[in-house]
Amino acid sequence: MQAVISDVHSNIEAFRAVYEDIRSLGIKDIVCLGDMIGYGPNPRESIALTMKTCRRTILGNHEMAVMGEQEDFNERAKVAVAWTREQLALRGKGAKINRKLWDFLGRMKKILVEGPFVYVHGSPRDYTREYIFPRDIYNEAKLDDIFNRFDTYSLVGHTHIPGVITEDHNFLRPEDIDSAYKLTGKKTIINVGSVGQPRDGDNRACYVVLHDDAVEYRRVAYDYERTVEKIKQTGALPEFLARRLVEGR
Ligand SMILES: [Fe+2]
Repeated sequence: MQAVISDVHSNIEAFRAVYEDIRSLGIKDIVCLGDMIGYGPNPRESIALTMKTCRRTILGNHEMAVMGEQEDFNERAKVAVAWTREQLALRGKGAKINRKLWDFLGRMKKILVEGPFVYVHGSPRDYTREYIFPRDIYNEAKLDDIFNRFDTYSLVGHTHIPGVITEDHNFLRPEDIDSAYKLTGKKTIINVGSVGQPRDGDNRACYVVLHDDAVEYRRVAYDYERTVEKIKQTGALPEFLARRLVEGR
């Protein structure tokens, strides 16, 4: 069994709760699809826990942004990028640890291919930046082209909306499939959802477990009020980023 997580977004309370859940299942193999940082109050701790617990970590657009790549981010995301960069400063008290965190960021790859699985942050067509939204089932050309870019299964994050897209262009939410989807060898895109900032109306952390022939969606309640309080205490991160954790939007 393997756990696949994504979009922790500096939410260490959600990440720790998910890691506990993974350990309780006896799973040791964890792959992270990126966006460990951005939005939340604990970037350093989130990168450190990823380094410690995940076998492989894929580059997300928020890591890219913090490392200086231009992004067409909205204002709130830009503020979070700047604040995150300050936390990772290479001078002052935390500099020594931060250097290790930067080394890790600099080594991240945009894609991992293992057996039938292709792991990316965004899409197998544009690994880091492209979003595959549920509404894209109405965009035949886009989905057909994306489905042509991988052989069997593609695991993605980025939208923070968990669900499975089938080759005949259906989007199945976890609640449509009783939180489990059988992997039969037909091409499938699996969005693993977000650990630290779910946007599907359920504020619990989300991730998936890969079984031999099925993918299982798991939701984990965590102390989001603590994260909300920490965001407010930064005095810098926009309050909207706290509110959306309460609503799961
Ligand atoms: Fe994200």
